Amino acid sequence: MSAPPVWLRDNCPCPHCRDPRNGQKLFQITELPAALAVDSVRDATTADGAPAREVVWAPDGHRSVYAETWLGAHLPGASAAPGDGRTEDDKELWAAADLEGRLPEADWSAYTTGPAVKAAALQSVLRLGFVLLRGVPVHDRQVLDVARTFGYVRETNYGELFEVRVEADPNNLAFTGARITPHTDNPYRDPVPTLQLLHCLTNAAQGGDSGLVDGFHAAALLRHEDPEAYDVLTRVPVPFAFADDRSELRAHRPLIGTDPAGRIREIRFNNRSIGTLHQPADVLDAFYAAYRRFGELLLRSELQLEFRLTPGDCLVFDNTRLLHARTAFAESGDRHLQGAYADIDGLASTLAVLRREETVK
Ligand code: OGA
Ligand code: ZN
Ligand code: ZN
Repeated sequence: MSAPPVWLRDNCPCPHCRDPRNGQKLFQITELPAALAVDSVRDATTADGAPAREVVWAPDGHRSVYAETWLGAHLPGASAAPGDGRTEDDKELWAAADLEGRLPEADWSAYTTGPAVKAAALQSVLRLGFVLLRGVPVHDRQVLDVARTFGYVRETNYGELFEVRVEADPNNLAFTGARITPHTDNPYRDPVPTLQLLHCLTNAAQGGDSGLVDGFHAAALLRHEDPEAYDVLTRVPVPFAFADDRSELRAHRPLIGTDPAGRIREIRFNNRSIGTLHQPADVLDAFYAAYRRFGELLLRSELQLEFRLTPGDCLVFDNTRLLHARTAFAESGDRHLQGAYADIDGLASTLAVLRREETVK
């Protein structure tokens, strides 16, 4: 077994090392012998009779039994490292044409009564970044019940939900009839809401069509077409800000967030809430050139999936990946959406538990 001793010992499944009731570790890393070494290894079986290897440790004589299946799946080099589910590696990137005629959608009654339909819908949010639920009851605050089918509502200074309709004194351009170009919501929050829901109650106005852009796909295109611009956008922190009478929010983050391996993991893009950057002049020059490049790319028609929400539609999407947009609409017309935020860890957990139940069946 070519595994670092401390790694192997840290994964000991014995009841002294892990509480059998919950699987949680019972020791601190500082409590393991500093000069840990494998003393001997022999074939064994686990408590439920599966083939295993038993390791006796020096210097403390501790015994660990590892199932062969566990070793096969986890020994260094045995298999590709699983991703965290959030980066480009774990997504299916798309342009508009890829989803033409095959929008990920689900009927509300099938979704609420059929675990397989629900699992497929939640999987679409993780893989493609969204799902469109159809036939959701057209009720005030229903969007909160939609969020609660897979997770927890993220309450913010806007309340549990926000009304998207024309307002007399809007604190946000969304609450006018103006066109809204592709953006992510609330980049001025840390942590940012990872999921957004938009539930359509009325859409009788002239205009007001919806658009979605896969921000991971757009960022990957930028990396290909203009690596320098991509690099700048992953490195320069952007001060996002929002203020009204009751709130003052800010977060400093790059437009393209990457993980330690450099994979695309989070997009924040919202022209309405980018504050004043404080950087040396050459960094400002490079940032603005790159920001414009990315902005142009995000407006390419082949990237934007266009559709129209009708009453009873509820869009659920990954706000760290997809950008959403709407065309202008006549303020004299009736258009009313209710929106809410939630988080993707809760959705992923709901899906994992559904899968577990499927496997048991
Ligand atoms: C928003 C928004 C889109 C729409 O409220 O954040 O982008 O279709 N609304 O009105
Ligand atoms: Zn142990
Ligand atoms: Zn928005």
